[in-house]
Amino acid sequence: MDSILVKGNGALSGRIPISGAKNTCLKLMGAALLTDEPLTLTNVPRLTDIDTLATLLQSLGTEVARLQDGRVMILSARQITDRRADYEIVRKLRASFNVLGPLLAREGEAIVSLPGGCAIGARKVDLHMMAMEKLGATIELRDGYVHATAPQGLRGTVIEFPFVSVGATENALTAATLARGTTVIRNAAREPDTVDLARCLSAMGARIEGAGTSEITVEGVDRLHGATHRVIPDRIELGTFMIAPAIAGGEVELVGGRLDMVSALAAKMEEAGVEVSETPGGVKVRRNGNGVRAVDVTTAPFPGFATDLQAQFMALMCTAQGMSRLEETIFENRFMHAPELIRMGADIDVHGGVATVKGVPKLRGAPVMATDLRASVSLILAGLAAEGETLVSRVYHLDRGYERIEEKLSAVGALIERVRGG
Ligand code: UD1
Repeated sequence: MDSILVKGNGALSGRIPISGAKNTCLKLMGAALLTDEPLTLTNVPRLTDIDTLATLLQSLGTEVARLQDGRVMILSARQITDRRADYEIVRKLRASFNVLGPLLAREGEAIVSLPGGCAIGARKVDLHMMAMEKLGATIELRDGYVHATAPQGLRGTVIEFPFVSVGATENALTAATLARGTTVIRNAAREPDTVDLARCLSAMGARIEGAGTSEITVEGVDRLHGATHRVIPDRIELGTFMIAPAIAGGEVELVGGRLDMVSALAAKMEEAGVEVSETPGGVKVRRNGNGVRAVDVTTAPFPGFATDLQAQFMALMCTAQGMSRLEETIFENRFMHAPELIRMGADIDVHGGVATVKGVPKLRGAPVMATDLRASVSLILAGLAAEGETLVSRVYHLDRGYERIEEKLSAVGALIERVRGG
């Protein structure tokens, strides 16, 4: 299995292009199941998670064509040939649970594996099922699979989520596009991913209002049609690379990044003493010779501080001046990176959902590994600021969500390379 070797090499300088958003693209791909006409997605990131979902969609009867080196994807679900999403794929990629809504809405039946546990928490899907039931589906759990049926089709309803779930909001939204009548989704997710999905569905003929607010209204239509849609930039990749010059020093422009998608992170970085500004082409981050100050962070649904940036921010706080308190409110087990950062010399104390980080003057390189995507990348960031070599193993996590990470960071002066095999 490949590893990534990082050596602290001082300040970074240059530009990094930001790719299309993985989490958004996965949901957009699922929307292709709603129509028998082709959905063309552009600005598609080249990541293994995207390949995994493409394989699942193909197994359901979708033709998947890729053009321009994989940046353009044409999905044609002329006919659904299978309504069953297999455990083997869903357990690897939780976002694939979101074929439930589209399959059910179009076919009146969906059999989707329960995703099972995950490194960062239990990650239940009860809200997804509640939403489908509200829309008139009958749900049965059998052999680890959700069997959802609605032979007469779905019907509009009011769905009120007790707390914000991005995945459940998006499953409800896609299903409601083909339901009879009006659906109102309350306490809906406001994530840019959800807004982009709504935009794509609207381009396919759906009638949606309120995306980006806590209440989304969907007027069901009889059928959706094909469309061409550009995937928004990846705000988590953007946030990750914003932290790179903050931790290593220097000045980097994130080309194609949108500051409005990471405003909570930007505010915390500024509070820590890092300069963040908008440029005509993206976002610029600059840290002068001085270090950063410790600041506290609590993760929250958008527009709050993203849980997907908590690990990277913790890496930054490891060498900050003072003590920071990082609270994780979305997932119950999302500090797996802390013990690895401690191996690099960090001073971190974890109690339940709160990590207290006491800044140290310097981290030291070490062999480390992580159990999820964002934890893995936090170790690479830490390696950029550490003395000596850091070898991050289990790189397959990184390849799920970061396109050519070693090339992108090398281009701004980092000493980082992929070590094959082992
Ligand atoms: C979450 C993040 C999203 C991130 C993604 C990938 C939030 C609110 N969501 O989305 O920003 O991009 O992970 O890492 O930050 N839950 C239930 N029952 C359900 C569904 C969810 O109890 O049926 C719980 C989850 O366990 C979690 C919380 O609700 O504690 C939010 O989960 P949700 O937003 O659904 O997760 P993802 O869609 O994976």
